[in-house]
Amino acid sequence: MADYRVIHRLEIDPAAERRALVAGLRATPPCIAPKYFYDDLGCALYGAICALPEYYLTRTESAIFSAYRVEIAQAIGAGGQFVDLGAGDCSKGESWLPFVAAKRYLAVDIAAGVIERALARLAPAFPGVEMLGLITDFTLGLDLRRDLVQLPTTFFYPGSSIGNFTPDDALLFLRAIRRHCEVPGSGLLIGVDTIKDKARLDSAYDDSLGVTAAFNRNVLNHVNRVLGSDFAASAYAHRGFYNMEARRVEMHLEARSTQVVTLDGAPLIFDAGERIHTENSYKYVAEDFAARLELAGFRTVRCWQDARGDFAMFHAI
Ligand code: AVI
Repeated sequence: MADYRVIHRLEIDPAAERRALVAGLRATPPCIAPKYFYDDLGCALYGAICALPEYYLTRTESAIFSAYRVEIAQAIGAGGQFVDLGAGDCSKGESWLPFVAAKRYLAVDIAAGVIERALARLAPAFPGVEMLGLITDFTLGLDLRRDLVQLPTTFFYPGSSIGNFTPDDALLFLRAIRRHCEVPGSGLLIGVDTIKDKARLDSAYDDSLGVTAAFNRNVLNHVNRVLGSDFAASAYAHRGFYNMEARRVEMHLEARSTQVVTLDGAPLIFDAGERIHTENSYKYVAEDFAARLELAGFRTVRCWQDARGDFAMFHAI
């Protein structure tokens, strides 16, 4: 018998999803929600992005973990429950479990298959840890209270995924996490990408192998499956660049020539050069993000960075 449980809490209304997607595509400017990046191929491409020389984020975060693992684990404390938000294959969360001597591990993600596979792999390696998978879209509103027990809880949100929220929505999300931290000793361990040289940010999101371009274009294949539309992915150029004023990397798909797409039986025209906005990835000054954590209600905030200050890991209680 499996020594883990997976609870499905994803309430998807396919008709509402389709309506929202079509509304985005017909909006000015047109947009596609970034969640559509992550079909099976998109997840694999994101894994490849994390290994790219230009995409310093994953590598730098992991170097901070290696350098400060024991110190950070001491700040977290032992014997609590570890909530891995956007756990994916659980590899980042897994690396913390022995250090924080977790009693419970909750892997939270929208992708059921990935979580099932990850927990099946992890459970035998951690026989003393209660393993739970929660399939839900926590970015639409975090409410995990019924799944938590009265133990100090650490929420783990690595990879600068917080950058994919607008700063206002990020604050709301941090507040929601803070509201889950009633048991003393509970807190948040979160990774955040920092503002840096535009050229480095540009190449991190427009790499020389074209992996990020494939990741971006693949969103159209996913949209075609959801809507039955006929986007030709190769007819759109990848644009990924740092917008200094907005303090965010933006990704767009730019029509190389006039495109006529059939959507719900009606044509949708993209002029040559017109862009579909697919993602924002906000970057922060470390001190500003610490202030944001305090604004969200956390009282003690610690920060660990690499020597270059490329990435920041915060623990907030
Ligand atoms: C998942 N997220 C933190 C990534 C980012 O950097 O915003 C997604 C990504 N988009 C392009 N490259 C990676």
